[in-house]
Amino acid sequence: MKHIKGVIFDLDGVICHTDKYHYLSWKKVADELGIEFDEKINNRLRGVSRMESLEIILEKSVKSYNDYEKNQIAEKKNSIYRQYLMTMTPNDISRDVHDTLYLLRDKGYYLAIGSSSKNAKLILEKTQLLNVFDAISDGTNITHSKPNPEVFLKAAEMLNLPPNNCMVVEDAISGIIAGNNAKMITIAIGDANNSEVATYNIEKLSDIISILEN
Ligand code: BG6
Ligand code: MG
Repeated sequence: MKHIKGVIFDLDGVICHTDKYHYLSWKKVADELGIEFDEKINNRLRGVSRMESLEIILEKSVKSYNDYEKNQIAEKKNSIYRQYLMTMTPNDISRDVHDTLYLLRDKGYYLAIGSSSKNAKLILEKTQLLNVFDAISDGTNITHSKPNPEVFLKAAEMLNLPPNNCMVVEDAISGIIAGNNAKMITIAIGDANNSEVATYNIEKLSDIISILEN
């Protein structure tokens, strides 16, 4: 794939397992409100913004909440979530992910983050990955959530690359669709693996090396 010059990675569930912290934090909030919430509903939240995630959780609520209450709930979830993030260290990045990122850099690829999260920079700081990426497109610079392609188009723009020179790695179906909508090659890992919407499915991040070298 000689035309691919940039690789754009989703963060939660691809680079690190903060997806499990999102789940635990929403679970705590949902339990307190007496709202049914499980891993299956949680999978619908992958790649979806904080407020849109809350709307999905509230589908199971018998009570309705006004905007003020919704903001309070979202803030509560975020403060629980950030307590988990504060415990993160470089050890939360697997050897496979770490080595793949450094190998790609050595090979001259431009690397970016394309995440819906407003906490992306904090996570990259705690795991000491800030300097590995040439660009960070995240929840702070977008107005439309995945499957809208905005977050990936912004990442390509930050890398100074046309979208068709970029590849996207995602664990969310919404993220794969966003990458397809951006006219990028899409790679599905984790929860999105075998969903049949991505250009390729992989088991572990280092599998992208052979795809790129094909
Ligand atoms: C995405 C996660 O990366 O970020 C979603 O997959 C999450 O589950 C979204 O809702 C927003 O995250 P944050 O950190 O801004 O609440
Ligand atoms: Mg994800």
